[in-house]
Amino acid sequence: MEEKQSFAEKGKLAHVYASGIRAVMNRAAELKREGKPVISFSAGEPDFDTPADIRHAASAAMENHMTHYSSARGELCLREEIAKKILRDTGVDYDPETEILVTSGGSEAIFNTMEALVNRGDEVIIPVPAFGNYENSVILAGGTPVTVPLDPGRQFALDPDEIENRITDRTRMIVLNSPNNPTGAIYSRASMEAVAALARRYDLWIFSDEIYSSIVYEDMKFCSPASFADMKERTIMMNGFSKAYAMTGWRLGYAACPKEIMDALVKVHQYLTCTSPTFLQIGAAEGMNTEGTREETERMKKAFAQRRQMILSELGTMQGLSFVKPAGAFYIMVDVGGLGLTGKEFSSRLLETKYTAVVPADAFGSWYKNWVRISYAASEEKIREGMARIRSMAAEYC
Ligand SMILES: Cc1ncc(COP(=O)(O)O)c(C=O)c1O
Repeated sequence: MEEKQSFAEKGKLAHVYASGIRAVMNRAAELKREGKPVISFSAGEPDFDTPADIRHAASAAMENHMTHYSSARGELCLREEIAKKILRDTGVDYDPETEILVTSGGSEAIFNTMEALVNRGDEVIIPVPAFGNYENSVILAGGTPVTVPLDPGRQFALDPDEIENRITDRTRMIVLNSPNNPTGAIYSRASMEAVAALARRYDLWIFSDEIYSSIVYEDMKFCSPASFADMKERTIMMNGFSKAYAMTGWRLGYAACPKEIMDALVKVHQYLTCTSPTFLQIGAAEGMNTEGTREETERMKKAFAQRRQMILSELGTMQGLSFVKPAGAFYIMVDVGGLGLTGKEFSSRLLETKYTAVVPADAFGSWYKNWVRISYAASEEKIREGMARIRSMAAEYC
């Protein structure tokens, strides 16, 4: 066993790090099993039910024996519904037959893309803080992640000049994630246009993770780089059902890109998951665009907006903490350095003494050691109680 472990440490997994989010979730689960009153702001997991039309359609599909292999790219009926949704939301037209792939969550689409397009020694530029799957999938593919730290003093805005500074003749791809996990930033259209111009000039791909595209606040607007002139052909768009439809456990996501790139992604998909479960795909297809589902997802968005307001007004009156106001998604980055603690120390003490789980932000990039990420995909009641616990811990250090 020891030999096997050291093999993994020395082998290709040497630079792949375990998920910092999962580490907190696992410890929180242990405490819960011990009977502690745990409140979790760790996972990016909406607490709502999946919309009824989707649930009922999936149950019916299972009862109707839709329990065998699906086609490799996903059930055509689902790809058609996804194509309609993308067209409605972004104005970009994808052919459901050849340009859409249904994956096991957006996570699989990230993995497939890196595995298909990144070769040994290729560099992929990733603005950070960022979702850890990009960096680790690039490493697993044999490539080199090149991180670009974004400045909290500028609300974690995308910085095209800093991106250009890192482009070399090995650069193949730039990763964009707006609205962003963990910062909640929505990149301005001008900054995205500038990055798209870099992609055209240096002949690069853009991987656009749009999983939070429907969760935006106030008058902020989401835009997809695939919708810019000549950008569809060099963009791999990723989205999914986990966040917008509260379907984290269904493991349904998708990628959309031009046929030639898609054929490469499908090759990886064939040997990885082969297909997503057939009856779940049919449930999603039949329920995702109904009036009932639209109403339920609108209610979720309104709830997220209210929770954000609660969090902002609570954190705004706590000494020793500062934060960057999120424009989208359901996360907020909080600087705990004013308490004389690192993010790791803060999150560990908060969990062990107040049974409240937040994620140390070095899980999203080594520059953010004094930060934690709070996910507010939790009920108002839990937010109220959790904020009281955070306030009481902060007071102990002020
Ligand atoms: C930015 C981002 N992309 C992709 C994912 C993957 O989501 P899933 O695999 O559940 O679709 C997540 C999940 O937290 C995320 O935050």
